[in-house]
Amino acid sequence: MQLTFIDVHVRYPGLDISALNGVNLEINTGERVALVGRNGSGKSTLMLTANGILRPHQGALLLDGRPVRYDRSGLRELRRNVGVVFQNPDDQLFSASVYQDISLGPLNLGLTQAEAHRRVQEVAEFCGLQELLDRPTHALSGGEKTRAALAGVLAMSPRFLFADEVTNSLDPWMRPQVLEILDRLADSGCAVILATHDWALASAWAQRVIWLEGGSVFRQGKPGASSWLT
Ligand SMILES: Nc1ncnc2c1ncn2[C@@H]1O[C@H](COP(=O)(O)OP(=O)(O)OP(=O)(O)O)[C@@H](O)[C@H]1O
Ligand SMILES: [Mg+2]
Repeated sequence: MQLTFIDVHVRYPGLDISALNGVNLEINTGERVALVGRNGSGKSTLMLTANGILRPHQGALLLDGRPVRYDRSGLRELRRNVGVVFQNPDDQLFSASVYQDISLGPLNLGLTQAEAHRRVQEVAEFCGLQELLDRPTHALSGGEKTRAALAGVLAMSPRFLFADEVTNSLDPWMRPQVLEILDRLADSGCAVILATHDWALASAWAQRVIWLEGGSVFRQGKPGASSWLT
C-alpha cells in the first residue's frame, strides 16, 4: 500500500502563508521513515494532513493511487489505514479511562464490543499498559500518556503510523521500548513515520530521512549515504 503526497499545499485558517508548500512524497507500507526539520517546518501539519484532519487547498493525497475523498466514507477509509499519534497526547486522550480511550477507535470502526475488548488487551500488552487500563487518562505521567495515545492508534491496526515526536517525553528506559514497538510495527508491514528533532536517532533508526524546510521536502534519503545531503 502506498500513501502519496502530490504538490500538497496546506494553509491554516486566517493565515495567508502555507504551512505545507508543495510537498511531494511517497511512503510505502513497511518503511521506517524519520521526519526532521526545524520548529515550524511543517512536520506536524504533514502528519495531520496524512489522515485527513487537515485538507490540502492545492495538490492531492492519494491512497494506493486513488485521490482521497473528503466525505464521510472517504475519511473513514483514510483513517482506517492512516493513524496519527499527536505531538501533545493531551490532544488525543479524552475518555474517562485508558481502557475507554483505546476502545474508542475500534468501536468507531464498527467492531463489536468483544472484538474491541480483544484489541484493547492486545495493544495494552504490546505497549506495556496492562496495569494502567483503569486509570483516568488525566492521571498519567507524560510518557504514560504517550504510550496510551500510541495504543489508541494501534488499536485501529493502521497501515501507516505517523508518530509526532513520541520519543520526546520518554525516559531512557521507556524510549528504547517504544522504539522497539515501532520496529515491531514496521516489521509487521506497517509504515512508521516518526517526527523527531533527534538527528542521531533519525539516522540510527530510519531507513529514510525526510528533511522538511519551510513546508516542503528540502532533502530526503538513506541516512549515512554520502549523497543524501546534496
Ligand atoms: N493551529 C495552527 N494555526 C495556525 N498556524 C499553525 C497552526 N499549527 C501550526 N501552524 C503554523 O504552521 C507552520 C508549520 O507548523 P508545524 O506545527 O507543522 O511545524 P513542526 O515542524 O511540527 O514544528 P515543531 O518542531 O515545533 O513541532 C508554522 O508556521 C506554524 O506556526
Ligand atoms: Mg510539530
